Amino acid sequence: MSIPHFRSADFAACSADRKAIPPAKVTLSHLQEKKRVGQPITALTAYDYATARLVDEAGIDMILVGDSLAMVIMGLDSTLAVTVDEMLHHTRAVRRAVRRAVLVADMPFGSYHASVAEGVSNAVRFVKEGGAEAVKVEGGRSRLELVERLVDAEIPVIGHVGLTPQAVHRMGGYAVQGKTLRAIDELTRDSIALEHAGASLMVLEGIPREVAQRITAELTIPTIGIGAGPDCDGQILVFHDLVNLSFSKPAKFVRHYGDAAALYRTAIEGYRDDVAQRAFPSDAESYHLATEERLALEKLNEELHAGKLAVVR
Ligand code: KIV
Repeated sequence: MSIPHFRSADFAACSADRKAIPPAKVTLSHLQEKKRVGQPITALTAYDYATARLVDEAGIDMILVGDSLAMVIMGLDSTLAVTVDEMLHHTRAVRRAVRRAVLVADMPFGSYHASVAEGVSNAVRFVKEGGAEAVKVEGGRSRLELVERLVDAEIPVIGHVGLTPQAVHRMGGYAVQGKTLRAIDELTRDSIALEHAGASLMVLEGIPREVAQRITAELTIPTIGIGAGPDCDGQILVFHDLVNLSFSKPAKFVRHYGDAAALYRTAIEGYRDDVAQRAFPSDAESYHLATEERLALEKLNEELHAGKLAVVR
């Protein structure tokens, strides 16, 4: 990367009037500066080239190749089974599309749980083979050593606390977390400890608004909420939830900004009907011979028809 790509001055120069010029390439430092100047951070998941292009071209700040792909892309009923190789496959596709946003890869269940060394090797793969600019790991204080080692290895880390889907069995389902004073204290301590260990950002998922507000105020690094209310420094949604393509009852925090299911259904059914009625493709949608070859072929067909020529088989 050449010097002109480092555009960190963009935000600093404008922070006096609390407005920022969108940078040509967003970095984690830009996102931290956004928190400082009070500008909301926008984030979405993406799992393939086409949607990642649309998300990036819309100017979304951060794109996460989330392990939620296990559910919305692979049709599994939890995130637990997706592998590092499967996540890498999608990360590479998204990498080819993303020019501007910060690209984050989610470390899947089992890729950092057995040992810190294994976690670092897997994270290195996401950077080297997937082109990720940061990795996300779920969990609180039990991840401190991992976060420190990743930062030592020059890999920026996004923390993720609250409703952490990889802990579905420990949590006994996908329930809102942080509802007692004790749980709030634990979550706050987890978040502060992860920041001190070197995390660059913190995802807060499925916690009461008041708790997210408290953690956001305690942390210097930005918080990105999903089901954590409007007081976080930014918001993230699963792309398929945004466009009604999840085939599940939407959670309370999901807002549909479009109806891709309806759009796709109309297109698929229209195609099916046109093919069934020979209305697709039309002559205008077909390739044609040049006049000379067409006339020669017509003549040949006539002679064949008249029995003047034998068909060569
Ligand atoms: O996997 C995912 O999509 C996530 C987001 C919900 C933050 O972790």
